[in-house]
Amino acid sequence: MKSLQVIEKLFRYVLRYRLQLILLLVVSLFGVGFEVIKPFPLKFIIDNVLGNHSSPFLNGLLPSEFIADKKKLLLFCISAMILILVCSAALSAWIFNLTITLSQRLVYDLSIDFFSKLQRLSLAFHSKNKIGDLLNRMNGDVFVVYFLVAQILLPSLTSIVSLIGMFYVMVKIDVLLAVLTFCVLPLLGFTLAFFAKPMNDTTMTQYIKHGEMSAFVQQSLSSMKVIQAFAREAFMQGKLNTHAEEFSNAYKKANKVSMTYNQLSLVISGFTAALVIGVGAYRSLDGRLSVGDLFIFVGYISALYGPITSLSTAISTAITLSARGKRIFEILESDEVVKEKQSAIRFQSLTGGVEFKDVSFGYNKSEDAVLYNVSFKVKPGEIVAIVGPTGAGKSSVISLITRFYDTWNGIVSVDGMNVKDVELHSLRNNISIVLQDAFLFPMTIKENILFGNPDATEEQIAEAAKAAQAHEFIHKMPEGYDTMITENGASLSGGQRQRIAIARAFLKKAPILILDEPTSAVDALTEAKIFSALQSYAKGKTVFLISHRLSTLKHADQIIAIKDGRVEEKGTHESLLAKGAFYAGLYKHQHIS
Ligand SMILES: Nc1ncnc2c1ncn2[C@@H]1O[C@H](COP(=O)(O)OP(=O)(O)OP(=O)(O)O)[C@@H](O)[C@H]1O
Ligand SMILES: [Mg+2]
Repeated sequence: MKSLQVIEKLFRYVLRYRLQLILLLVVSLFGVGFEVIKPFPLKFIIDNVLGNHSSPFLNGLLPSEFIADKKKLLLFCISAMILILVCSAALSAWIFNLTITLSQRLVYDLSIDFFSKLQRLSLAFHSKNKIGDLLNRMNGDVFVVYFLVAQILLPSLTSIVSLIGMFYVMVKIDVLLAVLTFCVLPLLGFTLAFFAKPMNDTTMTQYIKHGEMSAFVQQSLSSMKVIQAFAREAFMQGKLNTHAEEFSNAYKKANKVSMTYNQLSLVISGFTAALVIGVGAYRSLDGRLSVGDLFIFVGYISALYGPITSLSTAISTAITLSARGKRIFEILESDEVVKEKQSAIRFQSLTGGVEFKDVSFGYNKSEDAVLYNVSFKVKPGEIVAIVGPTGAGKSSVISLITRFYDTWNGIVSVDGMNVKDVELHSLRNNISIVLQDAFLFPMTIKENILFGNPDATEEQIAEAAKAAQAHEFIHKMPEGYDTMITENGASLSGGQRQRIAIARAFLKKAPILILDEPTSAVDALTEAKIFSALQSYAKGKTVFLISHRLSTLKHADQIIAIKDGRVEEKGTHESLLAKGAFYAGLYKHQHIS
């Protein structure tokens, strides 16, 4: 993605609010007008009140008796001075307000699009990208659109207009002095050109180092238990120190470069000021310039610094803008991989038949496949157990039913429809799932269970929790269903977490229920109770069950045994035992041990 393309894409966001932008530009131009006329009242006080110059402008504006009365004229000039100051301050406040409102709106839009894209991106994308990095993009880089408006577009335009305005007034007063004053521009331009690359590079390094440090802190905070369990606090502290030191060095370097540039620009404009005052005073001695006009020049020299700094900030921001904007559009435009077809079909209610036809699948095209030619057929209402050693591919099989990933070859179909032809939402709405690592949100227990079906009643929640053998322990908690769960359910035992996740899936009441080792952390007696509740709950539903405790799966209508990504055997518990091969080996081994 080229820099210009990034800017163009950002512009598309800005143009959504073209009316606000035009209003902002118009108000800003008025603001510039006030800046340009600011030194005039002082000029008139010096030349026309204190001195005896005559001004065609004042003569045209005021009656001659008024001009002749110096006290009245002084009062007029002072009032004009105050009026200009007040108007200019009011306009600045208005401009500030308009800028903030517009740019916040833009940042909001970009953040919303970014988050919504993140939610659509497949799990393959999320397992490749670090959360810390995505957070930095979401919290930091989306501000590029703010910078585009508040630090580039607006300041550049107003600066250029105000420079032109001041130059016009100066030329009208004294051409030589105007040219001398504006000599400062190319000098500052050269300085900026010299500093642009180092300023950009050091700023980018500062961002990167900051990102690395926050990613490290974020990872450490979420693995504090492991750090403490292995007593590796000092090691992690050392790592943080290195990150902090690198960030601090990058920060110092970036600020040193920009400080040098700022000081150099100050020296250049200070030098220009001295030169202009010297030459101006000399020409004033010659009578070619009034003292009041000299004051206009002096006023403009300090006023020049504003637009010039804004312009140089605009240029240096523009340099980092495309780099940071690229980080946003990289995500916004990344391929969704698991894509919904334009003409995707919406499932209403399913009967729950599932079929795999010659399915091959892997997580990474550059690596070997994880599943090879997997085929099986499940009739609506069947209970299917998927068994096999760890790493055999059981979780991978079920993640293809919900279409978390797409197959490499072969077809996964639900109710006879290829899942690739179905609307993702309608497919997943028809599936209840307990994932292998039961994730809970930092909300109340009730809200966690309701996640499966936000419209459920209190009774339905309690019913699902009872079936999942969770009601009793929830009920005993001081705040019951309103108990807040800490991040990732850390305040609960492993088995409690799993039972809440089961209740959440039960409450959804979808025609297909998938349970991936739902009771691995639950004792055998409670597990047996959950499975007996499941028998009645799952009537008419298709159930996929994965468990390493094979005794719990005996009653399944069909057992699919997977070994190294291939279906090794299929059949009922009895038929597979009778066969005396792979499954029988697994089962006997468990029973002996
Ligand atoms: N997100 C992923 N990215 C890359 N490879 C993965 C990913 N998830 C699983 N794998 C790999 O796919 C293979 C099958 O994993 P899978 O999780 O399906 O096994 P499983 O049978 O569910 O094992 P377990 O009983 O331990 O849960 C493994 O070799 C694993 O390393
Ligand atoms: Mg698994």
